[in-house]
Amino acid sequence: AASMASIPSNDVSENGHGNGNGPSPPRAKRPRAALISALVNAGDVSEISLVDNATTAAAIVLQHAAWSFAEGHFARGDAVLMLHYAYGAVKKSIQAYVARAGATVVEVPLPFPVTSPDAIITEFHAALAVAKAGGRKVRLAVIDHITSMPSVLIPVKELVAICRQEGVDKVFVDAAHSVGQVPVDVRDIGADFYTSNLHKWFFCPPAVAFLHTRKGGPITSQLHHPVVSHEYGNGLPMESGWIGTRDYSAQIVVPEAIHFVNRFEGGIEGIRSRNHEKVIEMGRMLAEAWGTFLGSPPVMCGSMAMVGMPCCLCIESDDDALRVRTMLRKDFKVEVPIYYNSRQVKVQEMAKDNNSDPVTGYVRISHQVYNVKEEYERLRDAVNKLVAEGFTSAKLRPAEKTIIS
Ligand SMILES: Cc1ncc(COP(=O)(O)O)c(C=O)c1O
Repeated sequence: AASMASIPSNDVSENGHGNGNGPSPPRAKRPRAALISALVNAGDVSEISLVDNATTAAAIVLQHAAWSFAEGHFARGDAVLMLHYAYGAVKKSIQAYVARAGATVVEVPLPFPVTSPDAIITEFHAALAVAKAGGRKVRLAVIDHITSMPSVLIPVKELVAICRQEGVDKVFVDAAHSVGQVPVDVRDIGADFYTSNLHKWFFCPPAVAFLHTRKGGPITSQLHHPVVSHEYGNGLPMESGWIGTRDYSAQIVVPEAIHFVNRFEGGIEGIRSRNHEKVIEMGRMLAEAWGTFLGSPPVMCGSMAMVGMPCCLCIESDDDALRVRTMLRKDFKVEVPIYYNSRQVKVQEMAKDNNSDPVTGYVRISHQVYNVKEEYERLRDAVNKLVAEGFTSAKLRPAEKTIIS
């Protein structure tokens, strides 16, 4: 393909290592990083490191914070802020790296369902005040661009600006879902670190992501890949370019993925804006059929949307949600993640279905170029059939064991 012509065929890793023995061959120009840099409007190709996935990017940033505690640059008890709906693996990474190293972890309790970006900004201000109480320093804020579950598009630019005003040291945006789903301009967002997968919404095979680190800060040279290899100490872009012998093919096909998306009208911008329109249209169709509502307004959705499920399905736990998901897959051939909202929703008018009953279960629907209306209609009809039959998720619960003493 034309776009591959400029990529040296033997350019396995972007730093030019092939086997790790002996002196390094001359370094390639990092053409894939250059393409990604242009895609997300980074200031310079040196700001882009290719990594496997968002989890690895989080490890890079959080390990640096952990070392800052261990080496005495941060004081025990300094705060790290994260959203309540941060991705599970990232929450555990915060525990494993920074809480263990001495950080006070403060969660931002986000409202769901949510009616406006302002509701999130208000909660963020309140949590930041808690984090800063008694003069405590806030060393790092971890902010999702699009939360995974429930899926909500977060006003990251505004939250980064608040962090700057309030003296938060560093901001890491976990945007695992962003590239291909929402416009991404890392300079405009202005975080210190920004990661997005390319294997989620940018048609790359698993696993390839990037970590953007803002140029200029002394921190760039202090970041390290968790897997140490020959390039240790040569800067994160080089370190992450060779992490030992392995399959680098997902990284190698980034130019092909760009070539592929450009075959669609409007390129990735065209794809994502059509996906957005469609997912909202399908979400509204489902909400109307089920007598429910969208979990967030369209302006807080990319190509995913949360749709309330009829209350009479009685989804009362994470396990219920998982069992209903499995049943929809097995019995109706519909694959859709289901979220159980454990928060107290009684007082929220918005969280009630048309029978004024509180909604506790939400489907997370997605739209990509290959999805068709019939798939959403199958989901609609499956749920309507369950409702008509008087199904409740209690029917899927395992029978309680009788204990004979
Ligand atoms: C917000 C968020 N962060 C991190 C991840 C982890 O991504 P990966 O498994 O590619 O590392 C996900 C995955 O869905 C996510 O949604």
